[in-house]
Amino acid sequence: MNRYVTGAVIRRLRESRKMTQEELAERIYVSGKAVSKWETGQGFPDISLLEPLASALGISVIELLSGEDIKNANRSANMLKTKFYVCPVCGNIIQSTGEALHSCCGITLPPLEPEAADAEHTICAENVEDEYYVTADHPMTKEHYISFFAAVSDQGIQLVKLYPEGPAEARFKKSRVQRLYVYCNRHGLFQIKM
Ligand SMILES: [Fe+2]
Repeated sequence: MNRYVTGAVIRRLRESRKMTQEELAERIYVSGKAVSKWETGQGFPDISLLEPLASALGISVIELLSGEDIKNANRSANMLKTKFYVCPVCGNIIQSTGEALHSCCGITLPPLEPEAADAEHTICAENVEDEYYVTADHPMTKEHYISFFAAVSDQGIQLVKLYPEGPAEARFKKSRVQRLYVYCNRHGLFQIKM
């Protein structure tokens, strides 16, 4: 984590929970004046207060520090709403049933918003018995390549990692697959609906 909690974040979270400065102060055993100082940038809460402060605001310390207040809107865990996160520094791929705060290499990762597949990132899915044989006509150089294919059904995810200089192909069990994804390291995430 490369920054500390800011006054603007404390104020935003406090106000969204309809708490006064006094009410927040009482919950963490400080004065209303102390909260007012933090919110106006005249001081920071002591590090020992981060946990009680986060708890009083109903979030985790990591969310408090990042300033992100993330709610998972997919509580029924519909797999078709799976979110993908990719670290731009190390290429780490994270998939999550709902929105969550994922951080890698010191960066808070936003969920990738898939675009409809364009001409350069189209996915060809051939039926081969009980599988889809998936290919993409796309460069596979070190600088610009398909980093993964994924097939998502209502029950789960199949993900195949690809590498530069390798073939842009994958095989997925067809069973119930409703979405195919292709991720290009330069152009991002694209999807096709089956
Ligand atoms: Fe690309």
